[in-house]
Amino acid sequence: MLTAEQIAAARADLRRGTTLPYAWYADEAVLTAERAGIFARSWHYVGLVDQVERPGSVLRADLAGLPVVLVRGRDGVLRGFHNVCRHRGAVLVREDCGVRNTLQCHYHAWTYDLDGSLRAAPRADRESEFDKTARGLVQVAVDTWGPFGFVYPWPDAPALADWLGELPALVADAGIDVHGLRLHHRVRYSLSCNWKIAVENFLECYHCAVAHPAFADVMDTGPDAYNLQVRPSFAWQRGPTRPQQRGGYPTAGEIDAGQYFMIWPSIKININPGRPNMSIGPVYPSGPHRTEAFLDYLFGPDVPTDWIDAMIAFDDQVGTEDRELIESVHRGVSGGGLACGRFMVDSELQLQAFGAWVAERLADHISAGPTPPRPPSLANERRDEDGHVQLSPGGD
Ligand code: FES
Ligand SMILES: [Fe+2]
Repeated sequence: MLTAEQIAAARADLRRGTTLPYAWYADEAVLTAERAGIFARSWHYVGLVDQVERPGSVLRADLAGLPVVLVRGRDGVLRGFHNVCRHRGAVLVREDCGVRNTLQCHYHAWTYDLDGSLRAAPRADRESEFDKTARGLVQVAVDTWGPFGFVYPWPDAPALADWLGELPALVADAGIDVHGLRLHHRVRYSLSCNWKIAVENFLECYHCAVAHPAFADVMDTGPDAYNLQVRPSFAWQRGPTRPQQRGGYPTAGEIDAGQYFMIWPSIKININPGRPNMSIGPVYPSGPHRTEAFLDYLFGPDVPTDWIDAMIAFDDQVGTEDRELIESVHRGVSGGGLACGRFMVDSELQLQAFGAWVAERLADHISAGPTPPRPPSLANERRDEDGHVQLSPGGD
């Protein structure tokens, strides 16, 4: 159980260059607090909106264990729902994407319309007081940045534009027209680590010269050249392309630097030097010791296939090198022998900012008390003064 005092101590330690407590990387109770205080209260990238263009098209996503689905209605409106049947909680849409006439549950065939309303429930006519209108799917907030679809798990979301801040402008300044990008493919991968270790590895290039020789050959990763910045909702890195390279891949093109963003808590955006390219995707916990992730790779329409293949090979090599580092750190940190580490504030300032953001969200979550606020769409349930749902015989 995480306490307010422990979080306050961790925040004070972070300011002095001490890492988050190593126990936070291996503890189920910390993960439970992170799911409720961080992932349930953040905007999530889920995919490209052109994947849900036709009426009836669906796009499923899993937000750190919280199932949601985007659905294009017959009226053309894009809606998002908790992908959870209002009968007994089965996951409703199980395919990644597709086209549906209705959303029918595979368990007992409750059937929802594309706008989330409950259309039919078998044997409902045998129930007294069964109110179909109170059993529609629970809505989540949906918004877009260019072609990118985002979901916030509660309807009372902050504006996505405020959440992203100046990030879209910085991506445009990097030479990327997000509207002109085409999806090449999605990569899914798993890591044997706590999710925060995967994020923290992304947030510094102190290890680049040691662990990524090809990357450090393409970009200047020295402390005076490689720029690290922190904004309220994201971190931003910029590595200028080296004029002379021995290996790597061809970096001539419209993009003159590597630019890497992390939208808190865990959405990565990578722009490599050369031709117009971008990859975007989250890392999520699936347990204290397991991380699930995906990356959507996009390229400008005129980028040749051989350039794409060379850049992806470069990216894969960096990813393979990072996996080894990340999983090594997790084994060291989660073993229980040491309480914490000491980061290098100058080169690892984004770790400090990430730790502070995480700790602040956890502190807010704990101070809010054990009962999370309820989405308005459930407000019509009858509840007693302790917040328990009141059941009437035969009622819904
Ligand atoms: S859980 Fe969906 S119909 Fe029963
Ligand atoms: Fe790395």
